[in-house]
Amino acid sequence: MEIKNAKYEISSAKVNQCPDTNVPEYAFIGRSNVGKSSLINMLTNNGSLAKTSQKPGKTLLINHFKINNGDWYIVDLPGYGYAARGKDQRQSFARMIEGYALERRQLACLFVLIDVRHSPQKIDLEFIDFCGENGVPIAIVFTKADKVSQKVADHNISLFKNELLEKWEELPPMFLTSSEKKKGRDAILDFIEKTNAIWHQSLSENPEENLKEEVEKDNNDTTSTNIDQIS
Ligand code: GTP
Ligand code: MG
Repeated sequence: MEIKNAKYEISSAKVNQCPDTNVPEYAFIGRSNVGKSSLINMLTNNGSLAKTSQKPGKTLLINHFKINNGDWYIVDLPGYGYAARGKDQRQSFARMIEGYALERRQLACLFVLIDVRHSPQKIDLEFIDFCGENGVPIAIVFTKADKVSQKVADHNISLFKNELLEKWEELPPMFLTSSEKKKGRDAILDFIEKTNAIWHQSLSENPEENLKEEVEKDNNDTTSTNIDQIS
């Protein structure tokens, strides 16, 4: 999959303010500072498309980016769990993110980003459980691979898989990335290309059906080996 063009469209505070489209979209979520906006810039080959920052809490709204003249969208979300925000603000961000994940019918896959430098964190596992329990289609993206050795990355990924397997029978698709080194780009774009095809196929077969369920079912049939495909 080639990204020929990527253009910022709009920022929304609530899911019902998001653009009214009929194409699949791919959103990026995870703790503040995990590298969501950087990953979007790496995927689109545009260092200034999504705003990044060394300080956590940079992205505050639901940001839509139109890809390849509107064939599909990338969505940058605010991070969850940023302690310095205070409880009220944290809750209002959680509502924004959960509302988006649950209600956005165009959501073909929510990429949940995990910093590969750390062992599994409760807040990430809880968010993934929330997605699983509510049928939100996810893939996991381990970020900042350039900051640790392959051995540490493998170790933390295997701890993470074991935690998920305590609760879930199947693992979601997984990717290991570095925005700094442009690692994992092709694997994610190939996955998006495949998911777009499933989306369009389902739409033509059952226009009335809930597309999110179709995409999730199909991806779970074929995945969990993507980590190995990344060189
Ligand atoms: P919020 O919008 O605040 O939730 O953060 P975010 O998840 O969008 O993170 P962002 O992309 O702004 O990156 C946070 C910091 O991590 C920045 O200083 C980035 O340069 C750095 N960073 C992101 N990805 C990588 C990576 O793959 N490798 C390295 N070394 N640094 C990274
Ligand atoms: Mg951001």
